[in-house]
Amino acid sequence: MIYITGDIHGTISVGSRLNKRNFPEQKSLTKKDCVIIAGDFGLIWDGSREDQYWLKWLHKEKPFTTLFIDGNHENFDLLEQYPVEIWNGGKVHKINSSVIHLMRGQVFTIENKKFFTFGGAASHDKEYRKEGKSWWKREMPSKDEYEEGLENLKRSLFSIHMERDEMHPYFYEIEKKLKYKRWYFGHFHQNVELTRNKRLIYSDLIKIQ
Ligand SMILES: [Fe+2]
Repeated sequence: MIYITGDIHGTISVGSRLNKRNFPEQKSLTKKDCVIIAGDFGLIWDGSREDQYWLKWLHKEKPFTTLFIDGNHENFDLLEQYPVEIWNGGKVHKINSSVIHLMRGQVFTIENKKFFTFGGAASHDKEYRKEGKSWWKREMPSKDEYEEGLENLKRSLFSIHMERDEMHPYFYEIEKKLKYKRWYFGHFHQNVELTRNKRLIYSDLIKIQ
């Protein structure tokens, strides 16, 4: 089984989010099951005893495997000290055998499902933060990471031929600002329900509700 949750922010809410009362479903889970944290994991923060305690808690006390994407509140200097390994088809940093960082632009196969992961985010309060202490430039992806993500998607997810072109940032800006029900798009010669509201269409003939 695979569960997903949002920002944990390290010691602030790891215990309350993933305790047995808040997450009773864990009783039936094993280390083969995963809980994905979609950014701001925050337990690779200052290497403190508190961080170590909770990492051990996830590893030893929790029955499931913890996977996380990086958000903007991670200590990238520490995170990048872990060696890069391949896990389920993509690059990871293994914090320990059951706490795993899913790196940017990777495609993983977990329980026969494909996951594209792309961490990072911009801090909007960085003027109040201190570089190397509470803020890292690496919170934003590099050009290589963007490219690798596209390459990996092209190779493994939908076999779509995708090349970055000037329309992409244009559409991306629109998507961010627009309230829309569903986004239909062609061009790639495939029928794929990408998300609840994004539909790649080719030969399917769908009634618009
Ligand atoms: Fe956050």
